[in-house]
Amino acid sequence: MVHGMRQRRHIPTWTAVIAACSLVSILIMLHLLLVDQRGNPKLEMEKKWENIRTMEKKMEEMKQNVAKADAYKAELMEMVKSCNVTAGQQGNRCRGLLALDLPKLETLPNDLLNREVDNTGLLGCSEIDSLKIIKQIHKGGNKVVQSAQHGKRQVAVKSAALEVRNVQNCLKRKTFKKKEDCYILANYEVVRENLLLRQIQHSGVPKMLGMCVRSEVSSGDIKERGVSLVVELGRQVDLTELMSLSLKERIKITMDFGGLLLYFAHSSLGSMRIQKFKLNRFILADDKIKLADVNELTSLEPECDVQYRCLLNGTEIESIKCFDNRCIGMNEQLNLQAANKIFFKPLLHVPVTNPRATEIRQLLKDIEAYKMTSDHVYLRLNSLYRSYNT
Ligand SMILES: Nc1ncnc2c1ncn2[C@@H]1O[C@H](COP(=O)(O)OP(=O)(O)OP(=O)(O)O)[C@@H](O)[C@H]1O
Ligand SMILES: [Mg+2]
Repeated sequence: MVHGMRQRRHIPTWTAVIAACSLVSILIMLHLLLVDQRGNPKLEMEKKWENIRTMEKKMEEMKQNVAKADAYKAELMEMVKSCNVTAGQQGNRCRGLLALDLPKLETLPNDLLNREVDNTGLLGCSEIDSLKIIKQIHKGGNKVVQSAQHGKRQVAVKSAALEVRNVQNCLKRKTFKKKEDCYILANYEVVRENLLLRQIQHSGVPKMLGMCVRSEVSSGDIKERGVSLVVELGRQVDLTELMSLSLKERIKITMDFGGLLLYFAHSSLGSMRIQKFKLNRFILADDKIKLADVNELTSLEPECDVQYRCLLNGTEIESIKCFDNRCIGMNEQLNLQAANKIFFKPLLHVPVTNPRATEIRQLLKDIEAYKMTSDHVYLRLNSLYRSYNT
């Protein structure tokens, strides 16, 4: 009985020993685990190396991707080169490529990518975007005219703007639901000027330097403007300043202007009249008087009167004939009369003592008496000018 009791007491003792051993081993394992995770410098180093190896692998993958991208870029550049060389002959392959606007391509030299300049010799949208606006010269009915820096040269930029008269009137009248639609007419005027300048190429109109047409909107920021025109920059004609020039220089300016009137009278668009012939419609550039806005031109001759006559100041003029109810030759005569009053008379003013006074006065009188066409005027001014060189 006593033995049986001793045996029963042994069992819990061993259980307690085993439990205690298990607890100790669990604690040791836990301790080891924690030391592994936090404190074992050897394992930590191992982990770091593993991370570095993973990063190296990733770097290698990235390098391979970069190499692939470089090869693709080189291939694209070759295609751009061949498309530029044989522009227009490459069909669909080039069409898609030239429309690409990859930022990487833009950083390449201009001669390779300057498609706009290559084709026409004119500035395109990207060049116009990079012009530095200097100041506003004029705010007109449809356009603002600004001066801008293009490399070493100054140019004039013309574009529709919110503040011009016709856009303002359109917005006030709420003519259109969409605000942008109020720019349509003004933008049309800029585009029209561009088209006319392409047809009228004469030293008496500003040289066309560039054009960008990309949307109907307008903005103060040149990069966001839908339509911009870049032309030779001039300055207001100051007659007092011109009067201080020598007679020979003044005859030269008058002769050049006479050449412009001759050109207008025989232009391929018909005999063109300057509609609002006023001093402020002209600029001085390259020592020549130039018509600032070719939109002022019309090739429509005035209508004949009810009796099919063409009268100027109540007088019938020999060089003007009524044909198809239009006074053919009237445009030319109106240009000459206005030019005589505004430019020729003041610029060719000479004292009676001048040896050429009689010849000059006779010329001015003949113009005023409608005796001259622009051909005659130009020839007479030309011979006057040449007489100074002999
Ligand atoms: N190339 C230029 N260089 C210098 N000034 C210029 C040039 N072109 C135009 N201007 C000036 O801006 C004025 C207006 O130009 P333009 O006629 O083209 O604009 P607009 O909107 O039609 O103005 P407006 O309604 O007054 O005719 C010109 O009269 C001239 O004074
Ligand atoms: Mg104008």
